[in-house]
Amino acid sequence: MPELSVGVVQERLSLAFDQSDPSLSLKDLLDAHAVAVASECGGVGKCGFCLVVVESGRCSPLTSVERATLSDEEITEGYRLACQARPLGNVALIVVEQ
Ligand code: FES
Repeated sequence: MPELSVGVVQERLSLAFDQSDPSLSLKDLLDAHAVAVASECGGVGKCGFCLVVVESGRCSPLTSVERATLSDEEITEGYRLACQARPLGNVALIVVEQ
């Protein structure tokens, strides 16, 4: 079973998830494991607060919402909107505190 490896304030958590539901976003998985992710839009891609940095692993391609929200520099550095990105296997990420 794939895992999310998540850095949260100098603590790294390993969160197993069921990959059989490909619609689950990183935010859905983090929420399900009570890992706080900033959000003011309820996860519909409008607030831009749910930032994570993907350190390794593969996620779904950038969405048009992410391309409109993130700067080129942020995209190059691995920033994603947790409500838009879906893990495609093992992923290591850092939750960006707002
Ligand atoms: S939760 Fe608002 S953009 Fe992701």
